[in-house]
Amino acid sequence: MEDHAKTHTKLENAEAFARSRLSEGRFDHTSRVADTAADLARVHGLDEDRARLSALIHDAARETGREEFLSLAQEWNLPVGEPERQSPKLLHGPVAAEVARRELGVDDEEVLEAVRAHTTGKPGMGPLALVLYVADKIEPARDYPSVGRLRRLAREDLNRVALESLRQAIAHNEARGKATHPASRKTLDWLETDRTTQSRIEQE
Ligand SMILES: [Fe+2]
Ligand SMILES: [Fe+2]
Repeated sequence: MEDHAKTHTKLENAEAFARSRLSEGRFDHTSRVADTAADLARVHGLDEDRARLSALIHDAARETGREEFLSLAQEWNLPVGEPERQSPKLLHGPVAAEVARRELGVDDEEVLEAVRAHTTGKPGMGPLALVLYVADKIEPARDYPSVGRLRRLAREDLNRVALESLRQAIAHNEARGKATHPASRKTLDWLETDRTTQSRIEQE
C-alpha cells in the first residue's frame, strides 16, 4: 500500500513537473505518450508505472533555449558532439533526464536511459527505452502513412517496430537532405544485427 502511494505521488509529481515546463500542446503530447507507453508496457509484460514515468519526463526540457542547452550540458558534463552543437535541441532528452534526477529525485537508471535515448535511439537500449521511443512515434495524434502498421507491429514485436520506425526516420531525414545522427545509425545497426541473430536462432 505504501509503495503504491509512493508510486502514485511520484507520477503526480512528474506530471506537474512536465505541465509546469511545457506549453499546453506539448503537455498534451506528453500525456498521450504516457498512456501509449503504459499500454505498450502492459502488452509486453513490463512495468506500466516506469513506462509512464519515463514518458512524463521525456520532453520536459523541449522548450529550453539553444544557449541554455549548451551551458547546461557543459555544467553537467553531458556528451556534446557536432550534431548537438549544430542542433542543441537534440540535447532535450539528456537534459530532461538530468533535471528529473536533480529536481524529482528520479534515480531509476532504466527510466533515465529511456528519457536520454528517446530522440536518437541508443545501441543496446533496453525494453523500457524501446517502449518510450516507439510510444513517442505512434501516440494517437501522430498521423503519417505508416503509423497504423507501426501501431499494430508495436503490440507484436518491440525490436522490430523500433527498427522500422528508425529506418523510416532516417529515410525521412535523407529525403530532406538532413544528416542522420550517428547514434541513430548505430542503433539501426544494432537492431538489424539483433534481428539476424534472432532469425538464426529461430531457424535452428
Ligand atoms: Fe522528444
Ligand atoms: Fe515527444
